[in-house]
Amino acid sequence: MTPTLLLLPGDGIGPEVIEQARRVAEHLWPELAFETGLIGGASLDADGVPLSVDTLVRAKQSDAVLLGAVGGPAWANVERNLRPEMGLLQIRKGMDVFANLRPAYCFPALVDASSLKRDRIDGLDIMIVRELTSGVYFGEPRGIERGLGDKSFGFETSRYTAGEVKRVARIAFEIARGRRGKVSSTEKSNVMESGLFWRETVTALHQAEGEGVELHHILADACAMELVREPKQFDVILAGNLFGDLLSDAAAMLTGSIGMLPSASLSVEGAPGLYEPVHGSAPDIAGQGIANPCAAILSLEMALRWSMRRPDLADRLFAAVGRALEGGARTHDLGGDLGTVAVTDAILDCL
Ligand code: NAD
Ligand code: IPM
Ligand code: MN
Repeated sequence: MTPTLLLLPGDGIGPEVIEQARRVAEHLWPELAFETGLIGGASLDADGVPLSVDTLVRAKQSDAVLLGAVGGPAWANVERNLRPEMGLLQIRKGMDVFANLRPAYCFPALVDASSLKRDRIDGLDIMIVRELTSGVYFGEPRGIERGLGDKSFGFETSRYTAGEVKRVARIAFEIARGRRGKVSSTEKSNVMESGLFWRETVTALHQAEGEGVELHHILADACAMELVREPKQFDVILAGNLFGDLLSDAAAMLTGSIGMLPSASLSVEGAPGLYEPVHGSAPDIAGQGIANPCAAILSLEMALRWSMRRPDLADRLFAAVGRALEGGARTHDLGGDLGTVAVTDAILDCL
């Protein structure tokens, strides 16, 4: 049976880049079945919620979900729990995609597009494994207490259970075994209880199940510094939800542009994965046809590899993106002047 890919284009440049990923998918695998749905501001406008029950049910029934981006100025004043970004958090939680893989890979053609010197990033290949369904993003209690003058406050809870740390660390170990075997686990164990617990739990898991993996611990602030000082020292970076978010945006710039960074969010074996570019809805360039489609197309590549068991097609697609970039297919964020469709055409020509 051919798998079903649920497309959730979302807002801003989301629909522009997902449409290009769909063209590529149709070309690569004509039998693939597509469904589409709404998320984020688009869903809020149509159904009054940023993620409907129907979309979540369909997501769980699909083989993989390819999501564009959510959010934008049109929904800036919407009540907090209806904001487009809540739709994203809800689908991640609802699909239980706890392991978010964000590969920072520098294509040879883009070595000079990075803000870092060539020798620092030539051959760069890092995998960030970010915990995606817990931590300070979801911890309870949280809230804002207003009306107390200077004593008013906002707060949340940074909380990780042993089970949550272990299941994502296990994935980081497994991925490292297929790469260079090194995991750098990052937290703020010097100031945070949840960070100290994270470190202890990862250390214990490594002693029990870490064969073939070299484990290092690095404080998250130092990790950010090392990422721009000597990025090639890293193989797999394991992080909680918040630090993984920050570190992956920083790592994005090593690859030339945030428009290059895909992601895969995985759940337990056999459950569908969620695939999305790391970038957002880019309201500043939406509607102009100039967004870089590579992050979305490479997210499709990750879906082929991790959910649809077609590493052959994934390899072909990855190589085609590399060749298209080699041939000068660049959007403005990479210093080029091609539009979204033209870059995709170049990738299709290389397939
Ligand atoms: P952003 O990633 O949307 O944009 C940051 C900068 O990068 C902008 O200058 C933008 O033009 C550029 N950029 C991003 N993607 C690009 C692409 N594919 N090609 C070329 N340039 C690109 O981040 P932001 O501006 O901080 O956030 C905008 C909105 O997106 C907010 O509402 C935010 O909450 C949301 N957001 C959503 C996601 C997501 O859906 N996964 C991720 C991040 C931000
Ligand atoms: C990301 C985004 C999201 C996050 C936001 C939009 C909820 O920044 O996917 O990196 O913080 O996880
Ligand atoms: Mn982010």
